[in-house]
Amino acid sequence: MDWGMKNRMAQLIQADGHCLFLPVDHGYFQGPTRKLEEPGKTIEPLLPYADALFITRGVLRSSVDPANTKPIILRVSGGTSMVGKDLANEGITTSMEEAIRLNVAAVGLSIFVGTDYEHESLLNLSKLVDEGEKYGIPVMAVTAVGRELEKRDARFLALASRIAAELGARVVKTYWCQDFEKVVRGCPVPVVMAGGPHVDTELEVFEFVYDGMQKGAIGVNLGRNIWQNDFPVAMIKAIRVIIHQDASPKEAQELYDSIKNEEAR
Ligand code: 5RP
Repeated sequence: MDWGMKNRMAQLIQADGHCLFLPVDHGYFQGPTRKLEEPGKTIEPLLPYADALFITRGVLRSSVDPANTKPIILRVSGGTSMVGKDLANEGITTSMEEAIRLNVAAVGLSIFVGTDYEHESLLNLSKLVDEGEKYGIPVMAVTAVGRELEKRDARFLALASRIAAELGARVVKTYWCQDFEKVVRGCPVPVVMAGGPHVDTELEVFEFVYDGMQKGAIGVNLGRNIWQNDFPVAMIKAIRVIIHQDASPKEAQELYDSIKNEEAR
C-alpha cells in the first residue's frame, strides 16, 4: 500500500483499529430529511465525537467549516431520488479530481446487488476503485439491498460485501444482521455497520453495535439513530464508548441516560 493510501486509512481507522463514521449524506436522495434539514446545525455538536464525516460535496462546502480537520469520506454516487423510479439506478456524481480538491480521506459509493442495476453499480465501483488507487484514495462501498431481497439476511449481506471487497473497496459498509460473523468472515477488508431507519429504543442500537463489534466489525457508519435521536450528543458519546472502549450495551445506556438527564435539566 502506498504512503498516501496508508495515511488516509490511518486517518479513518483509529489507532485501536476501530472507527465511528458519521453519515450525513442522506439528503442526496431523501432531500431535507428529518433532523437534517439544516445540516450544519446537525453536524456541529456531533463532529467532535466522530472519527470521520460521510457527506456530499454540496453539504461539505455549504455546511462544514474548511478549518475542520476531521477526515471526510465523500459520497460520490447518486442521481436518483425517493420519488423517482428506482433508487438503484445510481451513477458516479463527483470526479476524483474534485475529491482531491476537497482534500478528502476517502470516497464512498453505493452498490445495488440483486437489483436491475447490479451490473452498472458494480462497474461504477470498479471504475471508482481504479481512479482512487491512482491517487491513493480509498473507496468505501455502501451495500444497499434491492427491495425484493430480505434486508438483513447474513447470506445476502455476505454476498454483497464480498463482491464489494473483490472489486477493490478498501472498506465495506453493510447492515448488522443475525449471524453477522458470517458477513465479516467472508469479507477480506474492514466492515462497518450502518444503522438504518430510526428505531424505538436506544438500547436496540447499543445492542446491535456491541454484537457487531464482538463479531468482527471495526466500527459504524451510523447516522439516523444518532442525529434523529432527541439527544444526539448523548447518543454518539454512548456509541463511541462501545466502539473505542469496549463498553457493554448496559454501560452505553447508563452513559446515554446520564448525559440526557444532565441536558434535560
Ligand atoms: C444513506 C447511506 C448512509 O450513509 C447509511 O445508510 C448510514 O446511515 P444510517 O445509519 O442512517 O442508515 O448510505 O445514504
